[in-house]
Amino acid sequence: MTATSPLISLVAEALVGVPDAAPDEAELRLADAVATVTEGLLGARAHAIDLALPAPAVRGHLFRPLAALAGARVTGAEPDGQLWLAALAIQLAHEASLLHDDVIDGAALRRGDPTVVGREGVARALVEGDHLLTAAYRIAAETGSAAFMRLFAVSVERTVAGEKQQATARGSAVDWERYRDIVGGKSGELFACALAASAALSGGAQDRLRRLGRQLGSIYQMVDDFLDYCPATDTGKPALGDYRSGLWTWIRLEAPSLRADLAEADVRRTLFRPLGGDSPMRAALTRLRGEMDAVASDLEALGPDGGIVATLFDAWHNRAAEAAWREERALADAEAATRIQALSGSRALADAADWRSYFAEHGRTFRLAARLFPPEARDRVAAVYAFCRLTDDLVDQQADLSPEVRHRLLDAWRDAAWEAYDHGHTGIPLLDVAMGDMAAHDVPFRYAADLIAGARMDLGSVAFQTTDDLRLYTYRVASVVGLWLTELFGVHDAAVLDRAAAMGHAMQLTNILRDVSEVLARGRLYLPASLLHARGLTPAVLDALRRTDTPIPSAYAGVCEELMELAERQYAYAFEALPALPGFFRRPVAVAARAYAGIHDAVRRNGYDNLRRRAYTSLPQKVMLGAQGLRDLYAARQQRALDGLRGIITAS
Ligand code: FPP
Ligand code: MG
Repeated sequence: MTATSPLISLVAEALVGVPDAAPDEAELRLADAVATVTEGLLGARAHAIDLALPAPAVRGHLFRPLAALAGARVTGAEPDGQLWLAALAIQLAHEASLLHDDVIDGAALRRGDPTVVGREGVARALVEGDHLLTAAYRIAAETGSAAFMRLFAVSVERTVAGEKQQATARGSAVDWERYRDIVGGKSGELFACALAASAALSGGAQDRLRRLGRQLGSIYQMVDDFLDYCPATDTGKPALGDYRSGLWTWIRLEAPSLRADLAEADVRRTLFRPLGGDSPMRAALTRLRGEMDAVASDLEALGPDGGIVATLFDAWHNRAAEAAWREERALADAEAATRIQALSGSRALADAADWRSYFAEHGRTFRLAARLFPPEARDRVAAVYAFCRLTDDLVDQQADLSPEVRHRLLDAWRDAAWEAYDHGHTGIPLLDVAMGDMAAHDVPFRYAADLIAGARMDLGSVAFQTTDDLRLYTYRVASVVGLWLTELFGVHDAAVLDRAAAMGHAMQLTNILRDVSEVLARGRLYLPASLLHARGLTPAVLDALRRTDTPIPSAYAGVCEELMELAERQYAYAFEALPALPGFFRRPVAVAARAYAGIHDAVRRNGYDNLRRRAYTSLPQKVMLGAQGLRDLYAARQQRALDGLRGIITAS
């Protein structure tokens, strides 16, 4: 391979698209082939110009000339001037067919440019096409090969016949057999001619190469037909052209439920939404891959082509797969926007009174703490709570949506939140109030973004390997809430914030320990695998235990104890900062934290059986615990006063 040729790097750049992306081995091989083909065609074109024939610039993907080169390699022939004349004849016939095709389709655009028919009218386009076609025949004759002339004439005639068959069928449904006849003719025949050209020129056997070439061209057409249904991809042609003009392609066979005359969004929904398995277009991609593999391996059996056909297939398949991915994203975006729209009218988002009741209904432990807030602060906390809760619900309570759509929903939610933070108005009252308050009090937006990232972690199958992995999760779903509220109430000191994060960590650990059985029942587990493995346990063992009434093994009690002790150290650390919080905030936090930490005692009282039962603290217990929290708070303030005194004494 001559990877240093400037032509190759130019072609590689054109193929790969991004100049500084390093092309891989296969792309370079293809670039090498394109360079060879371009050089060959330029030589043949000079010959055509000598004959005063029309010879359009050598451009486009040159797939048919590439097939001619692949065919030569398969037959072991050295590509020569004769082959390039044959390839140029095929390319010109192809260009002629497109000029005529645009007349038939009334197309205004091709490859992103205005068509001849669009620019200069039907008569001009027809006569230009005729001239290219007749020139193609003269160039084919220049090969001096009667066998090639015969092959070429048959292929062009079959191409036109395929197009005629398509015209007859337009507006009505066709089956697979008819579809294959049409595309095998209109698109397959020139590829067949190209792949068999070298064999014809050398007097060799053409049949198998012709058959494979016809399949190769049909697959190319199938990709083109696939892309017609991908409006989010720029194909240089108007989107949904086949669909709108009643041209029945294989996509209609893959998606029989697609009705006529649907709006673009409905076409997308029908084709790209998975319904208990692959979407019709994903199934279509699988079929394409299968057909490509079959043709590539049949060709391989005839002889090596230097990877041209396999690389072309990969490039075509990637193009279709990327287009499908773009449609799936567009679909998910649209569905996410609809959901957000629906949410914006839901009661939880309508006004402050709703957030308060939402807060009261949902947070049983926090309800107690909330009573300790003065009304104005309570409303602000309720807005933060409602934001957190809704973020969580976007993941948990939309079971009808695929994970992809739920990801997009979270994206849309984050974008809307940022819009509210940055501009202060989205029309979604909760966001406008909660984010507006955040921005007005210099609370970084990243807390909201991190919280959404935490909800995202719940979308996959949750499985934390280490305590650090779990820590990232508890940071995102809980510590940021502590940080957010602390800064919202005007405290921006780093030491206090570190402790606020610890409070969130501790509370989330408690929450995880309380809810193991509930979460396991949903197929999830937040306990880090490393802690389980260290004591000879696995998630599967816990799941099995959950379904029996065998006593809780001491190894499992050990895991819970280890996590509870970790949480308790975090609570103790967090409590150090309570005196630094504003008075109205200090008390509810102390009460909520102590009441929450009290759940550990309930887990211990239950013999660590959080696999089958939820640890429960009664209201009187909560009140007692809350009172304990206030005493802790008092003690922490005393300690701080003492520390301050010590500081003064040491300093003096
Ligand atoms: C493009 O496919 C068109 C063809 C593959 C063949 C067109 C053939 C004729 C018009 C018959 C005349 C032939 C000659 C040789 C003069 P498409 O229509 O599916 O794709 P498009 O979306 O690019 O139009
Ligand atoms: Mg067409």
